[in-house]
Amino acid sequence: MPPRNHKAWTNEPKIEYINSLIYSDHSLYEQELKNIFSKVWVPMCHSSELPNLGDYRKTQIALQNVLAVRFENGVVRTFLTDKMQAPAGNDLSLTYHSGSWTELPCEVKHGGMVWTTLDTNPSMSVDEWTGGAFDCIADAIDTEEMEVFHYHKAVINTNYKLWHDTNSEFYHDFMHYFNRVSGFNDEYFARKNIPFDNGHVNVSSFTVNYEEYDGFEDRGELSFPNLPPNQWYMVDLFPGFNFNLRGSAYRSDSVTPLGPNKVLIEFRGYGLKKDTPEERQTRIKHHNSIWGPFGRNLHEDLIGVAGQGTTMREGTEPRNILHGRHENRTIHDEVGMRHYYAEWGKWMGVEASNPALAA
Ligand SMILES: [Fe+2]
Repeated sequence: MPPRNHKAWTNEPKIEYINSLIYSDHSLYEQELKNIFSKVWVPMCHSSELPNLGDYRKTQIALQNVLAVRFENGVVRTFLTDKMQAPAGNDLSLTYHSGSWTELPCEVKHGGMVWTTLDTNPSMSVDEWTGGAFDCIADAIDTEEMEVFHYHKAVINTNYKLWHDTNSEFYHDFMHYFNRVSGFNDEYFARKNIPFDNGHVNVSSFTVNYEEYDGFEDRGELSFPNLPPNQWYMVDLFPGFNFNLRGSAYRSDSVTPLGPNKVLIEFRGYGLKKDTPEERQTRIKHHNSIWGPFGRNLHEDLIGVAGQGTTMREGTEPRNILHGRHENRTIHDEVGMRHYYAEWGKWMGVEASNPALAA
């Protein structure tokens, strides 16, 4: 499609856009908890965070308290509980007797993630739900056991979907000096957005030239299994979970919406369980130099979405946000955003372009 001038935009009968009300409206937020977060599979933690019998880890899904617990024979089970323990621990007997527990569906899949859902009778398995979105990195994350070496969380005054969006659209990459220096080559611009069922999207890989950036080094030597050197894949999972494989380190983001303009994001970094201490140190350095709190990338995204949150907070004037770029599904084509918001509309029973109808 040729570039559209103002006239073309106003003539076009179906201009592709969403309305910013979806980021600021309180009743839509409540509906999202009920219609989406209470139904979907959530990657709540990683099995390596529960190495021993009785280890548990908590999270909240749609404001409900959820525990993942390691049982006999290595089995991980998840529970809805009316009382909240410390964020993590090992006192199984204490947790058992401290409140009523309801068992939830649980699967350990896709690189050892612990998946659970508040839907006690889910219509799909995790594999059916993810629908092939992990295939591109399956050989890299499922060949060797992974281990979490990094965890931090951020509570940001922004809508959870804006965190999804920053992981999905790539023109904001111009904001990242490191990415501009190390990544903007022909291969980068040829990356494709690949939509999957249920609103998920892959971003295909390309080779990052780390040595282009002063003080950084090639990461080929510690690449994940079966991954060509210095490749970078992304899996954007509906409704807002992100998986990011940059050669020698893997990252997952889990979002917990706390309000229309507040989100908790949990960041995990992963290496391989079989790493030697030296290998692990190198992976940690690679991970933290980009995705740590003082790295070259992640905090810039957090600042970006906090700014968006400020301009689209509750009570601000709604405006339309264009998603109209069509560029053969390459990196700046908004096919991934359109795919995601079409799915969001299905779950919400309302179009993202006209959410006021939901009220
Ligand atoms: Fe970014």
